[in-house]
Amino acid sequence: MAKMSVTPWEVSGDINYDKLVKEFGLSKIDSKMLERIKKHTKELHPMLSRGIFFAHRDLNWILDEYEKGNKFFLYTGRAPSGPVHLGHILVWEFTKWLQEKFGVELWFQFPDEEKFLFKQNLTFEEIDKHLHDNMLDIIALGFDPNKTHFIIDTQHANLMYKEACKVAKKITFSNVKAVFGLTNESNIGSIFYTSMQAVPAFLPSVLKKKKIPCLIPHAVDQDPHFRLTRDILPKLDHYKPASIQSSFIPPLTGTKGKMSSSKESSIFMTDTPEEVKKKINKYAFSGGQPTTEEHRKKGGNPDVDVSFQYLKMFFEPDNKKLKKIEQDYKSGKMLTGELKQILIEKINNFLKQHQKKRKLAENQIDKFIYSA
Ligand code: TRP
Repeated sequence: MAKMSVTPWEVSGDINYDKLVKEFGLSKIDSKMLERIKKHTKELHPMLSRGIFFAHRDLNWILDEYEKGNKFFLYTGRAPSGPVHLGHILVWEFTKWLQEKFGVELWFQFPDEEKFLFKQNLTFEEIDKHLHDNMLDIIALGFDPNKTHFIIDTQHANLMYKEACKVAKKITFSNVKAVFGLTNESNIGSIFYTSMQAVPAFLPSVLKKKKIPCLIPHAVDQDPHFRLTRDILPKLDHYKPASIQSSFIPPLTGTKGKMSSSKESSIFMTDTPEEVKKKINKYAFSGGQPTTEEHRKKGGNPDVDVSFQYLKMFFEPDNKKLKKIEQDYKSGKMLTGELKQILIEKINNFLKQHQKKRKLAENQIDKFIYSA
């Protein structure tokens, strides 16, 4: 079995989420928690009921405060290092749902220095281009412009840097080595970086001069940053941020690791219908049998079938329809080609809408970027 690695810089191998819960010290989202969320949201997002968001920290506290009338704000982010693909939007779609259901603000960070510091050959000129394009994708997802604030590390440095220094002063080089595996050879910018990612977890409290609870939806690989953030913030008289963790959308080629922009087997938000069709047909790992005859007899395995997993994680929110596909695939009634066809149509419908909204987003960027 491929060894599991889950860090902010690398996700690979067979990911065992139960093991991650233990190793990271997370709390599993159980049925009691789901009930509690549902009390407020009336319905459960499929990503919750299907366990795609599987763990949290201090969600009970967030809901305690909310019930007392003390609303939280949401915080998530994206380091603009390449085009947005389907793997990224899972967390953002769910974040949008939380924003709508709880009627709360979202602070969205674009740490445009992060990948500059961590990657070998990425220039700020390239990053600026990705930043612009990534903002379009995020706006296109439909966040409330009146309740959503983009902060861009280099553009909002005047707001962020002092606060980051306060955080940095409480973190030693050995902390950072232990938490992120940095070494004596790591550049000093990368050593400082986590203090910038900590800032949006309390910046709204600083700006509004009152303590506001923060909830961070994120893919579980970002947890090391927020473990550190949670240790530091009480020392600065801020609340510890709460968080909720998602699993990863796998690459097309198999159910290990995560979809990544560096792989050709990812589906990007700007892909054409033909590209989507070609990629799914060519790369999407199939849980089917080698021949039609065998498939009809033995059936397919949806648990390792990437097309089925994409339907489950995102593209088929209807439980009944998903169940039917699962049963038909397992029994051999549905062939891999047919399953792929369902997914191709779903993705292409979604991208068609997205690409339209993406064009309209062009003149909305200014509305989303935070200004005092
Ligand atoms: N480090 C994240 C990335 O590599 C970006 C990020 C910044 C982020 N702040 C965040 C992600 C908060 C989740 C939550 O893309």
